[in-house]
Amino acid sequence: MKSFSSTRALRQTLKRLHSGQLVLGRLGPSSTSLPAQPATRPTTRSYASTAAVPASELLFGQPVHETHPHILQPGELTPGISAQEYHERRAALCRSLPPNSAVLLPSAAVTYRSGAVFHAFRQESNFLYLTGFSEPDSLAVIRNTGPNSDDYIFHLFCRPKNPKAEQWTGPWSGLDAARDVWNADEVADIARIEAVLPDVLSGVSKIYTDAELTKYGVPTKLGNVVHAAADNIPTAALRQHVNALRAIKSPAEITNMRHAGQESGRALTAAMSQPWKYEKDLAAFLEHQYQTRGLDGHAYIPVVAGGSKALLIHYVLNNGKLNDDEFILVDSGGEYGTYITDITRTWPASGKFSPAQKDLYNAVLKAQRSSVSLCRASANMTLDKIHHITDTAMREQLQALGFQLKGNEMGVLFPHHVGHYVGLDVHDTPGYSRSEVLREGHCVTIEPGIYVPDDDRFPAAFRGLGVRIEDSVCVGEENPLILTTEAVKEIDDIEALRS
Ligand code: GLY
Ligand code: MN
Ligand code: MN
Repeated sequence: MKSFSSTRALRQTLKRLHSGQLVLGRLGPSSTSLPAQPATRPTTRSYASTAAVPASELLFGQPVHETHPHILQPGELTPGISAQEYHERRAALCRSLPPNSAVLLPSAAVTYRSGAVFHAFRQESNFLYLTGFSEPDSLAVIRNTGPNSDDYIFHLFCRPKNPKAEQWTGPWSGLDAARDVWNADEVADIARIEAVLPDVLSGVSKIYTDAELTKYGVPTKLGNVVHAAADNIPTAALRQHVNALRAIKSPAEITNMRHAGQESGRALTAAMSQPWKYEKDLAAFLEHQYQTRGLDGHAYIPVVAGGSKALLIHYVLNNGKLNDDEFILVDSGGEYGTYITDITRTWPASGKFSPAQKDLYNAVLKAQRSSVSLCRASANMTLDKIHHITDTAMREQLQALGFQLKGNEMGVLFPHHVGHYVGLDVHDTPGYSRSEVLREGHCVTIEPGIYVPDDDRFPAAFRGLGVRIEDSVCVGEENPLILTTEAVKEIDDIEALRS
């Protein structure tokens, strides 16, 4: 059975790697080229090393267990996610596509702030989800070759080792590691793609890709390469097929998201426990908290908004003064192993709620709590249905506070959706419908907000107040798993932090 040989190859490679027997010593450019029609998954490989260097002494473009045992357990390619799970993702994707098709996935590119000054690199999420390989200048091609789940060939084009270039950029992993650590069946120098791709795609019936093959009606560089290699092969969008897999999180993914949520929640509670004068200091405190709690840092540019700046949904200047008589709204979560958490808390800068702050906060909190409780498969909900229910609940709360809501006022007061999917991305699985029935393993946010403009349609006591309360939640069969529960949100608990 094919899955046995694949799993055996994987196990053999991992065993040798983790026992220190496997050496990845060929640091110069590789001469690997691809066979025209690789028929079987290799089970053994020879290593043309001239110098035997233990894996722990090699430099890779990202942490591996041998070099970073404090970050990765044996068998993991990224924190918490094993090589086996990455293989299972590729196999599941191939099962969802017609036989003899190919998936074409370019990595993200390095982007530049100016000149040679680059932004932090973040891998394209679908590429990362299917490979665990976190380097630019890479292309994955996954060819589905038969009816069984393991009948696929994973090609990884990337940069060969080049010590001279790496002296400037920092290390990258090279072709041997692409094969031996990331379990690619076939590897080749990305610079040789034009020569190699025609063989890789030979006989393919359809190419699934979201790569930009044309821009403004003109073929891109990759478009030209694909065109030359596979002119007659039809292409189709890949996104919905990967979304269907990514939308339902595995136990390992949920563990990562819970870890990110728990530590980020604790960081938020620590922030609420002390007085703040400047938005900037609070943003820096959270970054430090995430880092020192073992996360990778902010998952996204946070919103740290004093007073009426909370009405600007994506206020990220975070450079104002915080006044004692105002709310602080913080939308900030950390990231762990590239899995994010998304949290918002709103609290009074003074530590004590005024009567108006308390009323508005309670209106949002009541709706938020009951909408979180709907995040279970047995409730047969969708995000769109939860949005509608939340909107109605907040409308009733606001009317009880004296708001006149006869026209489109709710669209002004609650201008965004109640939630979105979360995972590798803050707004995860773009294009995946909010009218999907929520099932076990879906991970979403529930984030109602009320933002009262300085408008005489609304009661004066609430004008200029903005409240949002957001948790990341994993849908269970009978109960929601609140991933961010350590961030306190009850009024008594918030006030107790400073009393
Ligand atoms: N933090 C972005 C959002 O809540 O959607
Ligand atoms: Mn959100
Ligand atoms: Mn958020």
